[in-house]
Amino acid sequence: MTMRIVSILLYVLVFSAPSFPQTPAFTIGMSQCNLGEPWRVQMNADIKKAAAEHPELRVTFKDAQNDNLRQSAHIDEFIRSGVNLIIVSPKEAAPLTKPISDAYKKGIPVIVLDRRILGNDYTCFIGADNKKIGRAAGRWIAKLLGGKGKIVELKGLMTSTPGQDRHFGFREGIKGSGCEVIFEADMKWLEPNARKEMESALSRFSQIDLVYAHNDPGAHGAFLAAKAAGRDGKMKFIGIDALPQEGRMYVKQGILAASFEYPTGGREAVETALQILRGKKVAREITLPSRVFTKDSIDKGGELLP
Ligand code: FRU
Repeated sequence: MTMRIVSILLYVLVFSAPSFPQTPAFTIGMSQCNLGEPWRVQMNADIKKAAAEHPELRVTFKDAQNDNLRQSAHIDEFIRSGVNLIIVSPKEAAPLTKPISDAYKKGIPVIVLDRRILGNDYTCFIGADNKKIGRAAGRWIAKLLGGKGKIVELKGLMTSTPGQDRHFGFREGIKGSGCEVIFEADMKWLEPNARKEMESALSRFSQIDLVYAHNDPGAHGAFLAAKAAGRDGKMKFIGIDALPQEGRMYVKQGILAASFEYPTGGREAVETALQILRGKKVAREITLPSRVFTKDSIDKGGELLP
């Protein structure tokens, strides 16, 4: 009798338990090169928000703290733990090429976000066109300066592809004008480095008309150095990224004359990951649009780069 009751109870328990939808779970490993800059914090937030709209996705985030070796180790860990897909925003092209290629060759789809690697061993690259942004900045600056002026260029890490593209694009943009780069330095994307380099530029040159920095933290660092020297009113500052709470705010405050948008691509990476995980074919290259924000265009949402 008791056996009968137990089996009835078991039957009731098993068949009346609430049923959960059988959605397959996919694990995505997200390797971020650092979280020391607001732009990267925003990228992770964009990924988190987009992934939260898809209950079948689980994202594991790792922060390499600006260390290539640590980032390589993170990718190896993702391979070993059997993630279904990797999203990676690499620090530098050369050192991250091998671990990414290893993952790809093992059959794990890889989305490379924002900074490129060498070679073709990845599933999809997502990012804005940095050469185009640099060129647009160059043309815009030449116009702002009335065709001539003395410029300081504060470069992003030149072993990362956005630094190279923003540099060569810019040089193309000012070509043929009377604009001259009188001082250039690699500030490695970091505001404190930019501030220091700008202090050297200020001590060497009595006339500086404009600072072109490869990102907004760099432009802000240069502004702080010029302000401390009492010379900020004598020159213009231009940056790249245009986060609402950073570059766009500086434009509103009159600190930057312009900021060129560099979208994080976080949402697009999640959407592309879903396509891949569902077995759909995706483009190998997804180029995101960019806008320029100036005092005149900021309230209208900026202006799309042609
Ligand atoms: C953040 C950052 C951004 C820049 C991007 C380029 O690490 O320096 O400011 O636009 O990386 O990869």
